[in-house]
Amino acid sequence: MFRDDLLQDKRILITGGGTGLGKGMARRFLELGATAYICGRRRVVLEETQAELRQVGRGKIDFIACDVRDLPGVEEMIVTIWRDGPLDIVVNNAAGNFLARTEELSPGAFEAVIGIVLTGTINVTMACGRRWLQSGHKGVMLNIAATYAATGSAYVVPSAIAKAGVVALTRSLAVEWGNRGVRINAIASGPIPTEGAFSRLLPRPEIEKLALDRNPLGRFGTVEELANLAVFMVSDGSGYINGEVVTMDGGEWLEGAGEFSALGRKLTEKDWEALTPRKSRNRTDA
Ligand code: COA
Repeated sequence: MFRDDLLQDKRILITGGGTGLGKGMARRFLELGATAYICGRRRVVLEETQAELRQVGRGKIDFIACDVRDLPGVEEMIVTIWRDGPLDIVVNNAAGNFLARTEELSPGAFEAVIGIVLTGTINVTMACGRRWLQSGHKGVMLNIAATYAATGSAYVVPSAIAKAGVVALTRSLAVEWGNRGVRINAIASGPIPTEGAFSRLLPRPEIEKLALDRNPLGRFGTVEELANLAVFMVSDGSGYINGEVVTMDGGEWLEGAGEFSALGRKLTEKDWEALTPRKSRNRTDA
């Protein structure tokens, strides 16, 4: 799908790159020649991922243990990376989420999710953005949002609030920094099976089936599909896309929004025959 050297010489930071979607994107970036830096909270996980991805492609992979909520820690990480040279691309992927009834959430629960998703994205964005602006180095940022950033969603309210903030940040900075060489976009993805997300958000087969049933494509997305979209979004070939939120969900959110969408699954052939006026059916036959 892409030239093998598409991301050659690009230096990319992927937050939350030790597992799940972040790891999948790191793998794809490496395959296409990038130097990848992954960060996350657990050093041992990062070490394992580095060992696993070391042989992938021609790129190099390095890691830094860092909690994106911790501003001094983020600054330290960015200083360390910049010692080798400026980053070209940052993917704000680190996330935290779980299903819960909102009235039962403690202040700490709001703080944990909003801290990782929104404050973490702000911390990394500011640390890199300021450096890019000051040095005139061109930069690309990609934020991982969610389809419910636009609609809101019951039972994941801290995440919905935080992802909506990430989208607002994306659009705002695309305009404010666009004329100074910094391009910022987001991907709003629907459900993609990863251990971290599915163990927390679709933890039982019947809940997973509910999510599958409301997807026009009848399946979840794949890590590879997300990684390919991410490659396109950060590559120079998409250089005129700025401030955009690209949805990748198989049409799931549109299905949810459509007044009559569910009929397709509920009505049988017989129901349709009974519902369709005989006259118009005859006209189609003719
Ligand atoms: N329901 C309600 N509250 C919960 C919860 C749940 N399932 N899980 C955690 N919390 C609350 C805790 O009670 C705590 O609040 P308190 O201090 O008021 O008691 C607060 O959230 C922080 O929990 P803690 O486990 O200490 O936070 P953490 O920073 O170690 O973990 C999370 C952050 C909670 C987001 C954790 O799920 C996580 O690390 N997630 C990362 C991976 C992930 O979520 N991936 C999916 C992305 S889609």
